[in-house]
Amino acid sequence: MESKNSTFKKGIILAGGSGTRLYPSTAVMTKQLLPIYDKPLIYYPLSVLMYAGIREILIICTAENQSSFQTLLGDGSKIGIRIEYAIQQAPRGLAEAFLIGEEFIGDDNVALILGDNVFFGQGLGVKLQLAVDAAKGATVFTYPVKNPEAFGIISYDANGNPETIEEKPIDPKSNYAITGLYFFDNDVVKVASQVKPSPRGELEITDVIRHYMLRGDLNVHEFGRGFAWFDTGTHDSMLQASMFVEAIQNRQGLRIACIEEIAFRKGFIDKAKLRSQVVSHSNDYCRYLMSLAADE
Ligand code: TTP
Repeated sequence: MESKNSTFKKGIILAGGSGTRLYPSTAVMTKQLLPIYDKPLIYYPLSVLMYAGIREILIICTAENQSSFQTLLGDGSKIGIRIEYAIQQAPRGLAEAFLIGEEFIGDDNVALILGDNVFFGQGLGVKLQLAVDAAKGATVFTYPVKNPEAFGIISYDANGNPETIEEKPIDPKSNYAITGLYFFDNDVVKVASQVKPSPRGELEITDVIRHYMLRGDLNVHEFGRGFAWFDTGTHDSMLQASMFVEAIQNRQGLRIACIEEIAFRKGFIDKAKLRSQVVSHSNDYCRYLMSLAADE
């Protein structure tokens, strides 16, 4: 995927939240630093932004976890990107990301990805390119789910245009969930500032997306059959995502969400820098980085 001249230079990873469903695993460690098989969860959303060619990233997290994220990822220079950090004082909703990130966003378009979402499948690059190429409006991705009551759900009219967007509907009009990856034009900062807290006290991303839909500025793409999307908020979904990553990686010998590999393949870092990140020769992840540096 070509990332030059991208209209999307900036991305936000929302990695706060309370992780109550994962207690006690989240009693001392935030969800996004827990492993999905062989790497911290945040590597997965980070790799998606990098794959979209985004190199300026804001990680929004809680005050108590900020230093852990910084220890893991630093300023991003090791993988040829720039990472900034900001704090969300309380989990006041996904749309607050655009208010916290207002200065970071500046005059640019911005992508938002949830820190606990895992995306994997052939065609991801093509789908990301569609979003990156749409300079105006908003782009979201849907995924068919069995339990639509638990998600933001989009339904369509007879012509296939988006018609309703509802957060965790009691009586869902479709089973198309909106996944945790969104691309917005710069207007999103203004739109988010006008959103009022929902009955559950959160600034809902669905309200922001609905705003774009009502003015005819919403692009929707579907992740279909054969694509994997995990929203790893529960122990079961974490285990399922881990088993999925293990199965693919061990069958193919290729790694999912290896941020150093993506940085290298996208040309963010050179072979010497890739090699310099091998911290141990008796570690599989590092041996993989070595083999990449040797192959190319
Ligand atoms: P959720 O899974 O909805 O919430 P949570 O992580 O707090 O977990 P739980 O429901 O078990 O208490 O959040 C989805 C992602 O968005 C996750 O990465 C946390 C992040 N998030 C924030 O950073 N700030 C917020 O205000 C909210 C609601 C979520």
